[in-house]
Formats: sequence, C-alpha cells, structure tokens
Amino acid sequence: MWLNKHILQVHISLAGEKHIRISWVTDEKSAPSIVEYGTSPGQYTSSGEGESTSYSYLFYKSGKIHHTVIGPLEHNTVYFYRCGGQGPEFQLKTPPAQFPVTFAVAGDLGQTGWTKSTLDHIDQCKYDVHLLPGDLSYADYMQHRWDTFGELVQPLASAKPWMVTQGNHEKEMIPLFIDAFESYNARWKMPYEESGSTSNLYYSFEVAGVHVIMLGSYTDYDELSDQYSWLKADLLKVDREKTPWLVVLFHVPWYNSNYAHQGEGDGMMAAMEPLLYAAGVDIVFAGHVHAYERSKRVNNGKSDPCGAVHITIGDGGNKEGLAQKYRNPQPEWSLFREASFGHGEFKIVNSTHAFWSWHRNDDDEPVKSDEVWITSLVSSGCLAEKNYESMKILMSP
Ligand SMILES: [Fe+2]
Repeated sequence: MWLNKHILQVHISLAGEKHIRISWVTDEKSAPSIVEYGTSPGQYTSSGEGESTSYSYLFYKSGKIHHTVIGPLEHNTVYFYRCGGQGPEFQLKTPPAQFPVTFAVAGDLGQTGWTKSTLDHIDQCKYDVHLLPGDLSYADYMQHRWDTFGELVQPLASAKPWMVTQGNHEKEMIPLFIDAFESYNARWKMPYEESGSTSNLYYSFEVAGVHVIMLGSYTDYDELSDQYSWLKADLLKVDREKTPWLVVLFHVPWYNSNYAHQGEGDGMMAAMEPLLYAAGVDIVFAGHVHAYERSKRVNNGKSDPCGAVHITIGDGGNKEGLAQKYRNPQPEWSLFREASFGHGEFKIVNSTHAFWSWHRNDDDEPVKSDEVWITSLVSSGCLAEKNYESMKILMSP
C-alpha cells in the first residue's frame, strides 16, 4: 500500500490542442500513471492513463516519474484532479481560447529565498501560463535538489502550465557515464512530439493567439542541425491569422550589455537570427544573465523596427546572485537594464497590442519597475513588406 503523501512534485504543461500533461513523482514502483479529473471537486468524470520513467545518476535513483496527458479539455476552465487513483486533490485552470492571455516569465529560478520571493509575487499575478527560459533547479549534479525544486514549485506548477526550456544548469553531463540533460528530460517532458520535434530540447506550442517556440542554446543550432531544420519547418507552419503573435524563448541572450556571459549567444544568433527575422518574431525571452534587460526592436546587432524585442529575464533568484556589472556606454539598442531579482508579465490584449511589465522583488507586488506597450509586427506592415524575402530564406533547402 502506498500513501497519499507520496504523490510528489506535481507540475502541468500544455500538450497539444486542448490537452494538458500532468507530471508527478512517486517513490512507490507500483503506483499507476492514472489521472482522474472533472470540473467539480471530488467528482471525477474522466480519466487518462500515461507512462512512467525513472533514471539513475551515479548513486542516486529517481522515484517513478509519471507523465499523463488528459483531455480534450474546455478552455478557460478549472479542473479538479488527482494522480495515481488517490488523493490529494489538485486544481488547474486551462488557458483561454482567445485574447487576452497572460504569461508569467521568470528564468534562472533556483531554489533560494529569492526564488521563494519571486514565486510569491508570481502567485499574486493573474496569469495563464508560466514561461521559463532555462535554468530551473540548479541541482548541479546533486539529484535530490531536483526533488526539492519539484516540491518548491508544485503549488504554482500544479495549477498553471509551466512551459520550460533548458539552460546550462540542466546539462549535468558526466562524459562516458551520464548523457547531457538526462534528469531534465526525464522530469520536464515538454510537447516536442506534439510539435513535430524529435527532441525534448526544442519544441513549440500554441495558446490563445500566440505561437511560442522554445529553442535549445546547448544543442546543435547550425544550418546542418536537426534543430535548425525543425525551426525552419515550424516557422513556415505559423499562421499569423490564427496566431498573430510569434514568441521565442531560449537560454543564452543574443542582446546583452551585461559583462556576465558577454558574447556567449553570438554563434546561435549568427545561425538563427536570420530565420527569426524572416518569420517576423515579435519578442524573444532569454535568461542566463542574472539581471533584467529590455531592447528596442532589433536585428543584426542594431535597432530595426521589423526585428524582435529581446528581453533578458534571468533574474528569478538563484544561488549565484546578481550580475551587477554593465558595459558602458549603454548600447543604442538597450532601453532598460537593471540587476535586481524579479519576474515579468506579458499580457497580450489583442492581435495588435500587448503590455509587458517587469516586477522587482524588493517592491510591493503592484509596483512595476519597467513597463511598455508593444505593438505586434502583424499590425505594423513589416510582415507584408518582407514576405517575399522571408519566404526565400525559410523555403531554401
Ligand atoms: Fe545559465
């Protein structure tokens, strides 16, 4: 007999149109990968059965890691659910079908007092989906820290989808013994199969009128790589009538005026920025640098009204502290930069307007430290202008 308290580390993620993946851990091997759910507490009218995995890492053996997709689900609806055929009961809210939709954004979280403060602030915000541009637990080879991180984020991540991509702290490779991203891939399964990718390290999803692409800064990105081919194919599939907003996340920033990690994103930028520019990406979120920075619309290293806004939001609160030193003078493309812990909120109001705000942890939650209205490229005429050129680069073999 296994116990209720052994339903651990519950988090949810979007898994294709109207579906959600529920992930959790049990320390009992016989625990089933069943999720029962319904729209009233304690009344489970539907259920789904999934899969499970586990991994070994030197002397550490993980619990049984369950991933179960449920649906089809109604939009903008609260569901009550339980995992493994027993309590406790959790509840989640599905995202809306249409605008407005709000994303909470925070990278480089870790599990410190600062992290707790960031999560508390996010919890006070009204949002639909959490976006995390890499560096989750800072387990750094100590596998039990993945478990404590799972427990720390469960109150938020069991209630709203957490869509994540990986950073350097997820790599945890030991040559000849442990492959890169083994723990991350086992625990944080994202909808890569649902989006035609062959790797959990890059994928895309759609929510309300937004197409979101998650890329991997630490997997091959050159023109001959699988990730590059997949990105081109995914960008070609984007229908701006259905999803007027196009958003991209990855870990290592391309536009960064902090001394920390200076230039580390240059290789990926050289390979992939032409694709993002051709497709008309509206906004890029990155992490890695433990500070906040927002750019103008940029391309090829300088401001460009038809490029993407780049935001570095690696200030979630990890144990390494803040990246305090900036290069001077501030580059012309950089509009706001500050080394403080915090999180961002990206509220897309309609097909043309979105409101971005950055919330510093030291302030009361209602205080916004940086805020700006962003208009979509769809509404600007940029996409129509560069349509022919963009099709050439995206269609090229
Ligand atoms: Fe990082």
